[in-house]
Amino acid sequence: MRLRTRDVFTTMRPDLLRVERRVEQAATVDFPVVSSLVLELVRAGGKRLRPLVLLLAGRAYAPDPDVLTAAAAGIELLHTASLVHDDTVDRSSLRRGRPTLNSMLTAGSVILLGDYLFAQSAMLAAATQSPRAVTIFASTLADICDGQLREIFDAHRLDQSRGDYERRIYGKTASLFAGAAEMGALLSHAPESHIAALRAYGSDIGLAFQVIDDILDLREATDDLGKPAGNDLRQGTVTLPTMIYAARLDERSAAAARLRAVVQGENESAEAIDEVVHEIRASSALAETTAYAVELTERAKAHVRICPDQETRSMLEDVADLVWNRSA
Ligand code: IPE
Ligand code: IPE
Ligand code: MG
Ligand code: MG
Repeated sequence: MRLRTRDVFTTMRPDLLRVERRVEQAATVDFPVVSSLVLELVRAGGKRLRPLVLLLAGRAYAPDPDVLTAAAAGIELLHTASLVHDDTVDRSSLRRGRPTLNSMLTAGSVILLGDYLFAQSAMLAAATQSPRAVTIFASTLADICDGQLREIFDAHRLDQSRGDYERRIYGKTASLFAGAAEMGALLSHAPESHIAALRAYGSDIGLAFQVIDDILDLREATDDLGKPAGNDLRQGTVTLPTMIYAARLDERSAAAARLRAVVQGENESAEAIDEVVHEIRASSALAETTAYAVELTERAKAHVRICPDQETRSMLEDVADLVWNRSA
């Protein structure tokens, strides 16, 4: 696989630094202790993939740096706010290698801090002065909530289809990549057909990104991830590798009974979860899921053949490969 991570980040560094400053300004809260906690989260080294997608989507057209910086900062802050709420919903203790806000503050204050960050991100979207960009922003936020709610209501159930899974990960993750790419292209006055192709590109890398996240949750150790491994099974979330694994099992086998007990929350012990994780790892499920993620990244790259600038197109292709290259 071709990985030229350094090239993309080096070329885009000045633009990303502008975004960084804008995000930090907007994430400043008027309470000394809380302000430093929020800024630590912002500075803790997120990969900034979504602002990168937004900036690149506009690069081949007529980008206005001020407008794109505001939009990219708004998208990153929307992502940050959704992580603050996600960790509260998931009762997760670690994010970007640090204790989560919900592990230090009351649930009420964390929800309100998340809301504050959502409001700040909406202000940044509004600063583009483009009603269509604000519409994309609002519908993306609705899609994220839809995906997260589906995850809650689909939890503890093994009788779900691949379509249910795809719809859920589109909402919670891919919609934001799709919205980022669409905004970047739109705000840089790309032709409509290019805006649609870039949106499809964002959607496919977002789907791949979440499929890979779901593989990593089962395959990696907590120390390497910077967030707790095995969390999906622990909270009864059935992801694609688990679905593929379950479909291959004889329903009457002991392994199927162990899986049901963990997913249905009848056995929440760390040993039971570990055992199921090991059984999934020993099966072909992770390899099959990986093959699907490869397909999605290839599909994403096909959408950007339309891009009129060779250098930008090759950076967009590199970002599609970057979804593989990650921790945290
Ligand atoms: C984490 O996203 C949430 C998911 C969609 C899996 P990232 O892995 O992009 O998070 P940061 O911003 O780099 O920490
Ligand atoms: C992604 O889902 C959450 C959002 C997109 C808000 P996960 O729950 O799988 O993300 P991680 O694993 O906590 O980063
Ligand atoms: Mg989570
Ligand atoms: Mg996850």
